[in-house]
Amino acid sequence: GDVAVLVPAAGAGVRLGAGGPKALRRLGGEPLLVHAVRRVAAAPSVSAIVVAAPPPDVEAVRALLAPVAPVIVVAGGAERQQSVAAALAAVPEGPDIILVHDAARALAPASLVESVAAAVRAGSAAVIPVLPVVDTVKEVGADGVVLGTVDRSALRAVQTPQGFRRSILAAAHAGAAAAYLTDDAGLVEKQGVPVTCVPGHEHALKITRPFDLAVAELLLGQAT
Ligand code: CTP
Ligand code: MG
Repeated sequence: GDVAVLVPAAGAGVRLGAGGPKALRRLGGEPLLVHAVRRVAAAPSVSAIVVAAPPPDVEAVRALLAPVAPVIVVAGGAERQQSVAAALAAVPEGPDIILVHDAARALAPASLVESVAAAVRAGSAAVIPVLPVVDTVKEVGADGVVLGTVDRSALRAVQTPQGFRRSILAAAHAGAAAAYLTDDAGLVEKQGVPVTCVPGHEHALKITRPFDLAVAELLLGQAT
């Protein structure tokens, strides 16, 4: 395969509530990270997986994933961007396409990994999976009063895995870190590189709050 996948998994999971780092929280009896890595490893193009784990849990994560797939595990950082940068630094020579995939999107199917990788292979420097926004979106002031309504037809909700030509992602992370950016495509956009959209997948929802974990439990029984 020509694809390496970075899996940032070093977050605390504050919004999910008490219970330890989110990537190690259980879904159907197994940690979210195991679900995520199993699906990534099932994608035929993937030849390397690098996980950024919470620093105290690096050894435990190695042991956890050893039976799932061959993975490299590194210590993540205080911000997501630092975790991605640490994982990127550990990618072996070879793969020319790099995907970044949140452990929190534990049910993203292997088919989504393949479609993002295929779009990079076909010539796009940066690729993101997106879904239409279903809610009406308004900008609201600090006083709680509406400032305006955004044209929803132009909006997309962005998922992971996000895919990049290796040199493009390396250059983006070598630049100044912007802590307010919550994805890697945001860094690449700042470099003026065009970012292409492909259809996302509902099962690639990000497990953020307890509600999302409950939804994921319901989805677990369904084939993807
Ligand atoms: N992440 C990471 N390193 C960090 C922060 C986040 O590797 N310092 C990872 C998380 O583990 C997750 C992904 O980035 O897989 C997306 O982040 P998010 O959903 O915000 O997870 P958490 O930061 O763990 O959750 P919260 O913000 O609620 O604490
Ligand atoms: Mg977070």
